[in-house]
Amino acid sequence: MNIQQALVWARKDLKTAGAGSGATVGATPDLDAEVLLGLVLGRSREYMFAHSDRVLMAGELRRFRSLLRRRGGGEPVAYITRVRKFFGLDFSVSRAVLIPRPDTEILVERVLDFLRLCGLGGGTLRVLDIGTGSGCVAVSIKKHFPTAEVMATDISGAALQVARKNARRLGAQVKFVHSDLLASARLGRYDVIVSNPPYLTRQEAGKRGLHFEPRLALAPNNMTPRQFFKKFLDQARDHLTPGGRIFLEIGHRQAPLMQRLARSVKANATFHKDLAGIERVAEIKLKK
Ligand SMILES: C[S@@+](CC[C@H](N)C(=O)[O-])C[C@H]1O[C@@H](n2cnc3c(N)ncnc32)[C@H](O)[C@@H]1O
Repeated sequence: MNIQQALVWARKDLKTAGAGSGATVGATPDLDAEVLLGLVLGRSREYMFAHSDRVLMAGELRRFRSLLRRRGGGEPVAYITRVRKFFGLDFSVSRAVLIPRPDTEILVERVLDFLRLCGLGGGTLRVLDIGTGSGCVAVSIKKHFPTAEVMATDISGAALQVARKNARRLGAQVKFVHSDLLASARLGRYDVIVSNPPYLTRQEAGKRGLHFEPRLALAPNNMTPRQFFKKFLDQARDHLTPGGRIFLEIGHRQAPLMQRLARSVKANATFHKDLAGIERVAEIKLKK
């Protein structure tokens, strides 16, 4: 079987697997097949198109079949390739961390806008990322606003290992602290507290297509999202500098809840929409 034939067969295989699963498996069969065969051959898409008649060796074909089985079983491509692009950077991912989502780039953009505005006043700005996972938010902020002092936390030691590795490899100086929200005594005051927190209910997190990702990254442990957000805001408000901001990614339809919770801690929330017009990021400022 040559490259072209293998790709045709793999696309069909993934489409069939996707039709039965109802998950995301069959959504991008062409791309998935190319990425997975590229991984097996250690070659780019351009190479595969230019050498479409190159015959696969038995070992290559075996490995390709095994990767297709994993993908057909619902495993996200990023866990198979162990890498995901976010904000133009390649982040290593493992099953200890959430796969960075394009939506979260909006969170990073809003934080960078705020830092650029504050930065005009001079002085070092301090940023804290809660629940850093792969480190994608903290590292992207540090890379695009290098003068900021960036700290990041997670309750998962395994996630922190992945985040540390990413920061080192991408050359971003970020300090990592193991902490349940802001409970660590090592945390001080920050101009920005940012988070893409686990905001799904346990039911939503149990949905197909998400079961490969850490439950703790999707839904709060032993709490409802409302209780988690409340605890977060109660703690975060005491760690903000005067004029500081909290930026939180929120789920669909969570804006009214976030507004109520913000008021309950004497703060105001404004919201930033994603490309689909959905309120995705809450920007929270304490009332004077
Ligand atoms: C939705 S993921 C976000 C990961 C990453 N920031 C991103 O945007 O891709 C939420 C992260 O919060 C962490 N987390 C969950 N509960 C936490 C808690 N109580 N304190 C600190 N981190 C927590 C999880 O381990 C997970 O890494």
